[in-house]
Amino acid sequence: MLLQIQTPVPKDIPLELPLPEWLLVTLLILSFLLHIIFINLMLGGSILTIWAQIKGLKEKEYDILAHEIAKTITVNKSMAVVLGVAPLLSINTLYTIYFYSANALTGFAWIMIIPLITIAFLLTYLHKYTWEKFEGSKRLHIAIIGMATTIFLFIPLIFLTNVNLMMFPEKWGAVKGFLSALMLPNVFPRYFEFLGACVSVTGLFVVWYNGRRHYPFEEQYSVFTRYDVKRIGYSATIIGLGVQIFFGVIVLFTLPSKGIGYDVIAVMIAAGSFLVAALWWSYKSVTGDKRLLDARFKRIVMAVIIFMVLYGGSRQIYRHNALRKHQELVAEHTKAFQKQSKEAREHPVEEKEELELDPSLGELAKGSALFKQKCGICHKRDEKLVGPPMTEMAGIYTGKTEDLKSWIRQPGKKRADYPQMPGFKDQLSDEELNELAKFILSVK
Ligand code: HEC
Repeated sequence: MLLQIQTPVPKDIPLELPLPEWLLVTLLILSFLLHIIFINLMLGGSILTIWAQIKGLKEKEYDILAHEIAKTITVNKSMAVVLGVAPLLSINTLYTIYFYSANALTGFAWIMIIPLITIAFLLTYLHKYTWEKFEGSKRLHIAIIGMATTIFLFIPLIFLTNVNLMMFPEKWGAVKGFLSALMLPNVFPRYFEFLGACVSVTGLFVVWYNGRRHYPFEEQYSVFTRYDVKRIGYSATIIGLGVQIFFGVIVLFTLPSKGIGYDVIAVMIAAGSFLVAALWWSYKSVTGDKRLLDARFKRIVMAVIIFMVLYGGSRQIYRHNALRKHQELVAEHTKAFQKQSKEAREHPVEEKEELELDPSLGELAKGSALFKQKCGICHKRDEKLVGPPMTEMAGIYTGKTEDLKSWIRQPGKKRADYPQMPGFKDQLSDEELNELAKFILSVK
């Protein structure tokens, strides 16, 4: 009830979903998972590149590492964009009015995504293809990837703000643009959890990338061994996982209560336990026997993937819980509207135009105005138009007001060379018929 008073309840689009809901939800979670992995690699890669390139100012070997990671950013970015279409379409289909409302409320920032992405992409290409050219001005070169990364860091905030805002219709009335939506609880803890994921996933990517048998590692590096670079990868993973776990706990404790249930908590804790396991194995890899560096790699990757599926699942459960009540209201609202519109189509209400009364006509003014409005297209005073002239009517009906009224209500078929006159049974009240008759019969 309270929800109903404060919350805008838009009508839904009365169309069936194109696929069963469970299938769309599965598609949403899985396609989003694929998309976010490449987003993680794109952003995590940019962050690691900056770090390595800055370190490379003093130690050349790190500059080579930076270059190697930088080459992967543009590829991962393309994958991320292509794979982003499916989750965007799925969420749009499943949560049309919610997603649309959130997009509209943060409209400017939402549209800004397009120019921002374009600029950031161009900057990453510029950075990648000018590595040799900027050999003499490394700081400027670092500034380029720095700018791209700043934009990359900002864009997920817009997405996060939107998918967060869509879950809180009761806030829609109060939200004034992107910045105020950004301040809703939950946005920042989720954002930092995401940043942690970028670093941990990219760390694992670096381990895999440099472990590939056909990768000409020795041609690239002169000082670093594969072990050294993989260690860097694992270390990034450890830092990232630590950040994820820390902010994951905060996410759990700051989730607004309306969508929270034992289901959400259980799945989130299960998800978190896989992160802890991944952290433990990564730690063991780095601190343990050098030759066993990769022994736990597959396990760690599996744990991270399972975490992602579970975490995504818990978000979906939360969203489902949080929106259920509102969705019921929307369904009621939509049904009521459909009923109303059906009735309106079956019984159209004639628009009552204002009558233009001519005061000089005295008591005939209303009848004259009505005649002009309802009868004038077919009847004139002295001449035949579509129907016979008024003079003829007056001739027939003088002294027979009731007959005249019943003709107007429900005309018969009289003259062979005239079409049928339409009836006015539902359009004119008895009082209006009297006025009309008075006017018609006043004609001599
Ligand atoms: C769409 C055209 C049209 C409109 C509008 C129209 N009429 Fe007619 N009217 C006719 C036609 C055609 C006839 C002749 C029908 C016949 O003789 O079968 C007619 C005939 C009449 C007659 C003669 C009836 C008789 O017994 O011979 C009267 C009176 C009349 N109309 C009054 C009105 C009044 C009053 C209105 C406005 C409320 C009106 N009409 C609106 C077309 C129209």
